[in-house]
Amino acid sequence: MSWSIDKSKELYSVQQWGLDYFNINDDGEVVVNLMDEAGETIPVSLSKIVKDQDERGRPVPLLIRFRDLLTRRIDSLNQAFIHAMGTSSYQGSYRGVYPIKVNQQQQVIQEICDFGEKYHYGLEAGSKPELLVALAHIKDPEALLICNGYKDQEFIDLALKASKTGINIILVVEMPGEVDAILDRAEALNIKPSLGVRFRLSAKSEGYWAESGGDRSTFGLNATQLIDAVDRLKERDALQYLNLFHYHQGSQLPNIRVIREACLEAVRVYVNLVQEGAPMGILDLGGGLAIDYDGSHTDYISSCNYGLNEYATDLVEIVQNACDSASIPHPTLVTESGRAVVAHYSVLTFNILDVTSFAERNKPEAPEEDDHEMLKSLWEIQERISSVNAHTLQECYNDTLFYRDQIRALFNSGVISLRARAHGEKIYWYTITKIAENLHQLKEVPEALASLEENLISFYYANFSVFQSLPDHWAINQLFPIMPLQRLGEEPTEKAILADITCDCDGKVDQFIDVKGVKKHLSVHKRAPLENYLIGAFLVGAYQETLGDLHNLLGDPHVVSVGIENGEVVYTNEVEGDTVADVLSYVEYDPKTIEKQFLTTAEKAVQNSKITAKERRDLMDTFRATLNGYTYYENT
Ligand SMILES: Cc1ncc(COP(=O)(O)O)c(C=O)c1O
Repeated sequence: MSWSIDKSKELYSVQQWGLDYFNINDDGEVVVNLMDEAGETIPVSLSKIVKDQDERGRPVPLLIRFRDLLTRRIDSLNQAFIHAMGTSSYQGSYRGVYPIKVNQQQQVIQEICDFGEKYHYGLEAGSKPELLVALAHIKDPEALLICNGYKDQEFIDLALKASKTGINIILVVEMPGEVDAILDRAEALNIKPSLGVRFRLSAKSEGYWAESGGDRSTFGLNATQLIDAVDRLKERDALQYLNLFHYHQGSQLPNIRVIREACLEAVRVYVNLVQEGAPMGILDLGGGLAIDYDGSHTDYISSCNYGLNEYATDLVEIVQNACDSASIPHPTLVTESGRAVVAHYSVLTFNILDVTSFAERNKPEAPEEDDHEMLKSLWEIQERISSVNAHTLQECYNDTLFYRDQIRALFNSGVISLRARAHGEKIYWYTITKIAENLHQLKEVPEALASLEENLISFYYANFSVFQSLPDHWAINQLFPIMPLQRLGEEPTEKAILADITCDCDGKVDQFIDVKGVKKHLSVHKRAPLENYLIGAFLVGAYQETLGDLHNLLGDPHVVSVGIENGEVVYTNEVEGDTVADVLSYVEYDPKTIEKQFLTTAEKAVQNSKITAKERRDLMDTFRATLNGYTYYENT
């Protein structure tokens, strides 16, 4: 049966995780659907962007950002709440705040504040650097600046003093001692604080970050501590400053049922705080709004069984019902949605440098008369794989392993040559491939053969660093949609895992999205020699950029923002990736000193007549070019 683009769409679930943002065009290339000023969709090929950037001296790995997708996400989230509140006659409003930690890049923060202004979109800061960023960017007095995290006196003082400028800053009490710490500073500075409290819900959480919520979560006050805090506020005549109630259940919550349960508990606490006499007014439901990374729309860890509209409708309904039954006003609802706002914004693109295949479909040469008997016996097995039944295949497999081991032992004891061993291994892989291909015809695959196909998965060597660009895949096995960017009208006949260029056995991607679970391979095309075969890792806009590290001293990749102006693709905000000199200086080397040190070695070589003066000059030119070059593999 012939392959088609529709089959590729299905295989990689593009339309499920890509929503209407990513698709495959008639040329078999992945496109991003950007909007022009008139709201017309313009599909832009990702491989074309990579090619354009390469011509401009920005080769892969390249991180591509789409400002348009960021603004559309902000729009969708706000519209979901506006719609949910409108249809249920909710009396409060929605105020999103973006948690800076999720992607701190200046461009992201600027965009959120500019575009989000019409929604009074605010920011969440959890540290002093984030507070400074938020203070510099928030201009809208109706937007919230929510201060979470542990706060020292400097943090508290700055937040209090800055609140006098009209910025709506709320200091959230994260631990018992912060009540007095904030009130003491407020009194000393004679500034009325606006306070929030973070609560540790008992409702169970789910997903990778389940520990962020629940009784044993590290942040927030439990019920006893919260009541103590309320009493302390009353004692100090400061309950009047308590405006906000906050909880955070953890990120990437895949199950709407769990979200609903938490919200139910939270709104009960909120109602009680109002009944205790606090003015309140704001209910901050934290982050957790998930992304459907695998497109399965299930409660699997890398998916979510709800959409933006369902999320908003459910939360609004729960809060509304609880407040109505207690006859208290509907609060302003806040979510600190990070991942859901920025994940779609960035795509990492990289190329394949080389391939190691294990599957051997070309029949090797038959052994010669004077070749070792073991080689001949191994050869005979593949000739037996004609009748297909489980018993024969199992037997062939056992014999293949036996003769392969015998051949290795013969090599180790010096009986056969490396050439003969290599010949044996070629026959071995050919036989194993033949067995694996016949397994499909069996009704039941013998247990010992079930993992045979996995052993045939190729290594595709990919020009990027998992540690730098997909740290969550390395650290917590988070799945991202990953797929080839071209040739999608052709059947991807090969199965591969992606080995990065860090030379670390953990530096690989060997788990991939699948609507039915997790795949142990990525379907790819057979790469032609020297082909610039491109792969994209999608939905990497949240958390990945700053969590990444410098393992093997591979630095930040090049970055470009892509948009549409007057119907044309425009490239802006280009950021050059780290040079070798940059990464060396991050680990305390001085590039100038390094150069001088090597110059001494080169000059000594001239004096000892090992190289000529001209060769020294050429060598130092190459040294300097490397120092100023990209840390990744470059095609020269
Ligand atoms: C307090 C707080 N709010 C919001 C978020 C953002 O969560 P998410 O990216 O799941 O929306 C986080 C991150 O875990 C967080 O710690």
